[in-house]
Amino acid sequence: MGPLGATCEELLETWFGLRTLLVSSCTHALEMAALLLDLQPGDEVLLPAFTFVSTANAFVLRGVRPVFVDVDGSGNLDVAAAAALRSRRTRAVCAVHYAGNSCDLDALAAALPGLPLVEDAAQAIGATFRGRPLGTRGVAGAISFHETKNVGCGEGGALGLPRPDLVERAEFIREKGTDRRKFSQGLVDKYTWVDIGSSYVLSELNAAYLEPQLRALERIQARRAQVFARYRQALAVPSARAGARIIEPPEHNGAGNAHLFALVFRSPEQRTRYIAQMGASGILTPFHYVALHRSPMGRRFHDGRPLPISDQLTDCLVRLPLFFNIADTQVDEVIDRTLEFLRAL
Ligand SMILES: Cc1ncc(COP(=O)(O)O)c(C=O)c1O
Repeated sequence: MGPLGATCEELLETWFGLRTLLVSSCTHALEMAALLLDLQPGDEVLLPAFTFVSTANAFVLRGVRPVFVDVDGSGNLDVAAAAALRSRRTRAVCAVHYAGNSCDLDALAAALPGLPLVEDAAQAIGATFRGRPLGTRGVAGAISFHETKNVGCGEGGALGLPRPDLVERAEFIREKGTDRRKFSQGLVDKYTWVDIGSSYVLSELNAAYLEPQLRALERIQARRAQVFARYRQALAVPSARAGARIIEPPEHNGAGNAHLFALVFRSPEQRTRYIAQMGASGILTPFHYVALHRSPMGRRFHDGRPLPISDQLTDCLVRLPLFFNIADTQVDEVIDRTLEFLRAL
């Protein structure tokens, strides 16, 4: 990590208001969080079933059993369901801020008192919960700069560290378990092996790509918000009339970060037809996660409880094109084709 990486960290720290480590991916940020929690084989971590594999893998790598919790209609952890699944083996809860929309972190803290929280804020750069940046509330907050995110550098991420007592150890873990950072700061004569760790530093080449985007964060978010608002204004009512719905930022999120615009259809068949019809016009409308309890690996851990909303989002959700440099004419084209589809339902 060189001067551009350091600048990225400064920009992130200004936004988060706390020590934030630039790392090689959100997957790695989550692995670091799991290491910081000192989890042991046999421990359990509560996490949503409707998420990306990295949310679970980070803990499974430590021998932990992921306990899959259903989500609510917004795609976020169902707080009451999480509380009901707490057992004497539960060591942490990992909340994913789906679509950059936060789950109700106050309700979560009240329902799971004393339980360490890891925030998987992969999609949540620039988003807030009651005015506070997502990723700053728990033991650690993991952000992604994968190319699909609002701000991206191919592969990259950040780990927000709200607890000052964990910062030094996180720096060791990021640097292969060494005190190399202290060496770079002139605090020790040579660096050495002090803890477990891995290679979690972001390359300076990626930082060079990331830095101008972090500086342009407001402009990026503003354009995305415009596109989101245009889709919403044109599609919310016609979707509801056709029995579909859009994923909206909950009130506690303020404006959200317009990470994605998603439609949830009434049936998998409707979604399949929509994707095919849009595809025929050259418009890509991908679905999203396959809920983890339905994956071959997830089935090894899951106790068979039904997780109906995670199933529904797996089967019925699609994402509309939403990126910084999408042209207004393209947005209009997506809207027109979608309205045609909805009217025919
Ligand atoms: C919820 C969630 N967590 C973690 C990740 C992993 O992020 P990365 O690709 O930066 O490792 C993703 C990736 O999209 C994600 O959606």
